[in-house]
Amino acid sequence: MVERVLLVGGGGREHAIARAVAADCELFGCASNQNPGIAALTSEFRIVDETAPEEILEMAVDVDATLAVIGPESALEAGVADRLDEAGVYTFGPRAAEARIETDKAYQREFMRAEAISGCPDFETFETADAAADYVRQYDADVAVKPRGLTGGKGVRVTGDQVTQSEAVKYVREAGFDEWVVEERLVGEEFTIQAFVADGTVESTPAVQDHKRAYDGDEGPNTGGMGSYSAAGRTLPFMTDADYEAAVRILEETVEALPAYKGVLYGQFMLTADGPKVVEFNARFGDPEAMNTLPALETPLIEILTAARDEDSLPDVTFSGAATVCKYAVPDGYPTNPSAGTRIEVDENAAGEALLFYASVEARETGLYTTGSRAYAVVGNGAEISEAEQEAETALGSSSESIRVRHDIGTAESIQQRIDHMNRLREWRVARRGPTRQGQEDLNTDTDTQPHATRDGDC
Ligand code: AMP
Ligand code: GLY
Repeated sequence: MVERVLLVGGGGREHAIARAVAADCELFGCASNQNPGIAALTSEFRIVDETAPEEILEMAVDVDATLAVIGPESALEAGVADRLDEAGVYTFGPRAAEARIETDKAYQREFMRAEAISGCPDFETFETADAAADYVRQYDADVAVKPRGLTGGKGVRVTGDQVTQSEAVKYVREAGFDEWVVEERLVGEEFTIQAFVADGTVESTPAVQDHKRAYDGDEGPNTGGMGSYSAAGRTLPFMTDADYEAAVRILEETVEALPAYKGVLYGQFMLTADGPKVVEFNARFGDPEAMNTLPALETPLIEILTAARDEDSLPDVTFSGAATVCKYAVPDGYPTNPSAGTRIEVDENAAGEALLFYASVEARETGLYTTGSRAYAVVGNGAEISEAEQEAETALGSSSESIRVRHDIGTAESIQQRIDHMNRLREWRVARRGPTRQGQEDLNTDTDTQPHATRDGDC
């Protein structure tokens, strides 16, 4: 039987999902925006409100879908998986109750505390902005302040990194949210591990490092993610096998505590000198990380999806072993003042060996135009990260002047800085504490003397 798969979502992540299944099924798509890449791979692509379960169910029924895959967190939060599951369309994505692990940051931290999940930072939750602001003012170390709900990755502020303590207090008072999480600032290198999850089993995928900040050298405001890389094995150059395994164990502990979880569980970790800590969980593939992971997946994605639906054990998930580098092309001014409506030239053939994924572009008769969001991404791959980086850059070569790219992602210099940063943190810990794993608090918060300050330059 040929599966009839309905894919929900229209970004770069969903284009990567579409590319990974299209050859093995009849694919249908729906999203709030048109995506020319997904449209080309689907039998039908419909514009729907991604947060309207009934509209999506209507499409699933119309196309006689045998299973569905959900890309964006907004759809999960809106209960799209619940509605499709109830109607008998198995959906690879958690129901709203399990998706709270991403959609409700206060729940996420309370859950970690209650279930004694490893890697949880010190935190408190607040129901008024005033109470959260007062707590930030009296906290004697650096903090991250987070609105409770979804903010597209742009709601968090970190003191000693992006803002001063008094700026964070002002931000909490003025941002317009009531409910907040305030937690200790974690210091280290961030990485992502995405895992396929069904029936309590967890199949992890290679680690990826995203680049959230808008400009080269990790400067500027946070974005949805400017690009990412993965290495030939499962780890990244600044981490050990033990670090990777510790992070996977955290994902496994989380799934043990959420036995009904299905779909992708995405762990965003900070590799501190004391091992991985949880920055957040997401209830779906990462964007851009899906564009690194799915093209390197050797196991057919359709086999993972159908095994999950049919309550078979998930197949062993294998990867090609290629290193990958993904670079997003974003409109000038993104994310604070993006120039929407600018015509861009995207030459799919010029990408060569690299892959091109569309994200947010508007197709008019006269060509493709930017919206306010990330426009498209290229993904290079190779035996080494440097080879993949070169391939991505070559693919970008012909891109328009009105778009911006972080050219430092995946370069030898940038990777070396991350290795050096982790080495300094580890050496500093050994010098200060001895080689045993002890409490992390001082290490994370003593920013006057921490070696990472020389890299960040602003704390
Ligand atoms: P989130 O929206 O939770 O993904 O947070 C966005 C970004 O804020 C993360 O990718 C981190 O760079 C940063 N961040 C969040 N929480 C912390 C923390 N406790 N310590 C340091 N940085 C953090
Ligand atoms: N790469 C960040 C995210 O998908 O949320």
